[in-house]
Amino acid sequence: MQKTKFSQILKKFGINISHRRPRPTEEEKTFSQSEILVSKTDVRGVITYVNAQFIEISGYSQNELLEQPHSITRHPKMPKIIFKVLWDNLKSGQEVNAFVVNLAKDGSYYWVFANVTPSFDASNKIIGFHSTRRRPNKKGLTAVIALYDKLRQYEIIGGIKESEIVLKNFLEKEEVSYEKFVFNLQYS
Ligand SMILES: Cc1cc2nc3c(=O)[nH]c(=O)nc-3n(C[C@H](O)[C@H](O)[C@H](O)COP(=O)(O)O)c2cc1C
Repeated sequence: MQKTKFSQILKKFGINISHRRPRPTEEEKTFSQSEILVSKTDVRGVITYVNAQFIEISGYSQNELLEQPHSITRHPKMPKIIFKVLWDNLKSGQEVNAFVVNLAKDGSYYWVFANVTPSFDASNKIIGFHSTRRRPNKKGLTAVIALYDKLRQYEIIGGIKESEIVLKNFLEKEEVSYEKFVFNLQYS
């Protein structure tokens, strides 16, 4: 009932949520090193473009993805703080790299290494965003999964403020910036 009302409010703002959230399973999907999964959004994060590879792994049709908020592929194992880092960077006009686990329509999951960039018009105004996802480095994923589990635990206890502190302390201890941390995991 509440969900229906919420989706009606979003519809008034031009955001159309017409799906039910899939129940996550333990089944993992992978893709080859030569594949690139692409999506584009408007400034609100509403999907405006998906390539064939993204459609294929997501399990949705192109029509089911277009005009939906990108959180349609959000997996509950993703910490909120990672999306905050993503949006903070994007809104300040910077690109960001992130390891993301996504939820497919059938409940399975797939890990990606995403490079997300803002697109600008000629007057330097942000007009949308673009995500290019590659197969993640398997060795790097072990460290990412351990970190994300910890971040989510702290989010359950103390919300995003708590996980932000945990992430900051973790990076300080490792003596790296967030960008360097993810880059090292993917490329070393
Ligand atoms: C270009 C672009 C691509 C995105 N790709 C994903 C994605 O693949 N998976 C995902 O969960 N969120 C993605 N997001 C972030 C979502 O917009 C959203 O912030 C996130 O799913 C968290 O949703 P929530 O704020 O409703 O919890 C993307 C955002 C942008 C701008």
